Amino acid sequence: MAGVTLERVTKRYGNVIAVNNANLEIKDKEFIVLVGPSGCGKSTTLRMVAGLEEITEGNIYIGDVLVNDIPPKDRDIAMVFQNYALYPHMDVYNNMAFGLKLRKFPRAEIDRRVKEAARMLGIENLLDRKPKQLSGGQRQRVAVGRAIVREPKVFLMDEPLSNLDAKLRVQMRAELSKLHARLQTTVIYVTHDQTEAMTMGDRIVVMKDGVIQQIGAPLEIYDNPVNVFVAGFIGTPPMNFIDCVLLKEEDDYWVKTPAFRLKIHPDRARQIQNIDAYVGKEVILGIRPEDIHDAKISPGPEDATVVAMVDVTEPMGSEVIAYFSKGDAQFVARIDPHTEATDGEEHPVSFNMKKIHLFDKETELVIK
Ligand SMILES: Nc1ncnc2c1ncn2[C@@H]1O[C@H](COP(=O)(O)OP(=O)(O)OP(=O)(O)O)[C@@H](O)[C@H]1O
Ligand SMILES: [Mg+2]
Repeated sequence: MAGVTLERVTKRYGNVIAVNNANLEIKDKEFIVLVGPSGCGKSTTLRMVAGLEEITEGNIYIGDVLVNDIPPKDRDIAMVFQNYALYPHMDVYNNMAFGLKLRKFPRAEIDRRVKEAARMLGIENLLDRKPKQLSGGQRQRVAVGRAIVREPKVFLMDEPLSNLDAKLRVQMRAELSKLHARLQTTVIYVTHDQTEAMTMGDRIVVMKDGVIQQIGAPLEIYDNPVNVFVAGFIGTPPMNFIDCVLLKEEDDYWVKTPAFRLKIHPDRARQIQNIDAYVGKEVILGIRPEDIHDAKISPGPEDATVVAMVDVTEPMGSEVIAYFSKGDAQFVARIDPHTEATDGEEHPVSFNMKKIHLFDKETELVIK
């Protein structure tokens, strides 16, 4: 068991800065997810922890041990890759046993570990099959099993589910979470899928262009994103961003576009301590799709309601995803499935102005 610490870690490939001054303290037994768009440095970070990439600057510790110069095989980690290439000529048992045989483990110990991992993963009845006789999900389980038998201090997983179809991915997601609860091991998990990050991580690390943007528990990040990027990346459909000017009238704060204005709920305005510095300036209003309602079904206060054009509605059964526009502003809402909003017609929507975010137009940082 061990935590993992990254201290000012940078990785350069020539002119490309793949990871830029990353600081991260992963606790023992924590399930931490590195998430971000393609090319943001997730795999590079993981591969440095594994010892598969040299670190340009900084330090990495596993437990208390500085591992910068320790080769991968001595780091007590096990890695599951996206492309989990099993040995095609070996059966499942031997695919899982192979690494232990190489390390000269006694036969009885190998047998114990392989069978225990197989039981945990529900693949005991597949031990004598060859990989080609398995489904994608079963192969994925074998790949995880191969890592489990090593009984490592830290599991590193790089998009291990991305080769699976959507349904299987959801199922394996839940299984990996349960497995983590049983194994009680530190896991560093890489994905570009924000849903995976939200559902699996004890904490999430959001990265962009090699830079860690925010570290926190899933809901902490969802509720309090530090900048426009994180706000737009976590959550689906993504948060709406509307260019506005911030106004103050008597004690009330308003956001105004050329086409409409909305009063910020006083409770929310009070939470934004720096709000006065932005009065009269351009700001970005952020509001999540679930915080915009069909005003005919859930009427909000008049000063938070606008009549907008319904561009497209997508009935999902449990809800309707509705795309609206009003002047230059466009926004998406998750509204009640019984809505009468009709494509091409106007419809009133109410904004929950207690749930809004304001961002600095220039820095794109949240206004706190
Ligand atoms: N061997 C290399 N030589 C040069 N540049 C590299 C090398 N490996 C990665 N990079 C660059 O480093 C950056 C980070 O790459 P990395 O593979 O860590 O991204 P990622 O977040 O894992 O992306 P993806 O989601 O596509 O897997 C990218 O700009 C990439 O082009
Ligand atoms: Mg990658």
